[in-house]
Amino acid sequence: MRIAVVGTGHVGLISCVTFAHIGHEVVGIDANGAKIETLRAGRSPFFEPGVQELLDEGIANGRLRFTSDYSEGIPGVDAAFICVGTPPRASGEASLVAVERATREMAACVNGPIVLVEKSTVPAGTHDRVTRTVAHERPEIADQIRVASNPEFLREGRAVQDTLTPERILVGADDPSAFETLRRIYEPLTSKGIPLIETDIATAEISKHACNAFLSMKISFINAVARMCERSGADIGSVAEVMGTDSRIGSSFLGAGIGYGGFCFPKDVDAFERVAHSLSYSFPLLREIARINDEAIEAAFLKIRDALWNLDDKRVCLLGLAFKPNTDDVRFAPALALADRLLGEGATVSAFDPAAVEEARREQPRIEYADDPYAAATDAHVVVLCTEWAEFKELDLDKLKSVMRYPVFVDGRNVFDPGDMTRRGFTYLSMGRPTPGARGA
Ligand code: UGA
Repeated sequence: MRIAVVGTGHVGLISCVTFAHIGHEVVGIDANGAKIETLRAGRSPFFEPGVQELLDEGIANGRLRFTSDYSEGIPGVDAAFICVGTPPRASGEASLVAVERATREMAACVNGPIVLVEKSTVPAGTHDRVTRTVAHERPEIADQIRVASNPEFLREGRAVQDTLTPERILVGADDPSAFETLRRIYEPLTSKGIPLIETDIATAEISKHACNAFLSMKISFINAVARMCERSGADIGSVAEVMGTDSRIGSSFLGAGIGYGGFCFPKDVDAFERVAHSLSYSFPLLREIARINDEAIEAAFLKIRDALWNLDDKRVCLLGLAFKPNTDDVRFAPALALADRLLGEGATVSAFDPAAVEEARREQPRIEYADDPYAAATDAHVVVLCTEWAEFKELDLDKLKSVMRYPVFVDGRNVFDPGDMTRRGFTYLSMGRPTPGARGA
């Protein structure tokens, strides 16, 4: 099949390289000329395992090309996937400016039957807007343009794997030919047994938001229970284990810590609440999920302040800045929210991250960035583990302690064993777990 992918961000570029990998002829379109130049030169603009290899493969076998010119990319394709950003507005609502612009640009260049596929996470009802925009722009050819929804469920850091071996593929459409086109596109995956769920378009749009909101709810739920554990002496790790053995609940996404971040959960929880509001339905649970997520950062902040008495003239070292391991993405990262809170109270903040220092520096230049964890921890009054990178599990903890000014360790991701950390001489504080003999420095 011939496929255009509009937008070469995280979802768009992964779609480009994986569609090419499964045998399609793909053109990636992006208004950002500099990004297109980087891609044409064969370089991925971001770090994501497997993408560079598939980019090399697609360019080498000629199945993958890039352009910033819609008139070069759209004519003749069977389907065009809309993968542009839907960033949050101040109200929490998703901004659909880029979706509308992409729709207009695509419509202007269509010269035959095509399916316009929403892959970006969009509010329920967006397909109506896309359909109406197409009808306004190209009334003479509108009957050849179909609209469908095909939300993405990939996770950063595992994006290629999630796309090539997903648990399911979701396709929403209201026309047999649109379903047929998408079935053919995904045939290389469905022929290996991956299920393809077909729904109407509104159901597909709502399903994507519902999945992200539900996963966020699991995290906030366990973090709220962690606050109760802290007050009762219970252990959140064991509580999560007990809950997880009930197959109706499931064990994943019950990791207590400093909360969720990234460019999906925070914005999608808010956007889904706004969708509910626009449908005249009040869904305050969604606001509560976001509030508990903010509270998780505040809980870590209060532990730090309580341990150090005052934060003025104190040095706080953050280990991990990315919103989760194996990515350089710091968008809505809990570590940066915590850094803002600490800086606001007069602390000096140092930090190390294996991949995200450059991204973080752009967002928060007031942090003192270091090249390794020990340099970051030198003279620190407290070390705070914010992202559970595998390499932090291998830290030489005695060396770390020896360079610190006070031996206070706040484990924002519950990575270390409380008994072991206490035996090593740390004042060790974690999220929702009791620590033998814990008290402030
Ligand atoms: C998330 C979803 O998992 C994907 O299914 C979805 O496609 C994607 O959003 C999207 O809409 O594009 P992602 O943002 O890459 O993927 O990250 P996750 O691995 O889901 O983690 C999100 C956040 O939750 C991270 O900050 C992580 O540290 C946090 N988390 C996760 C916890 O705090 N506890 C947990 O138990 C699990």
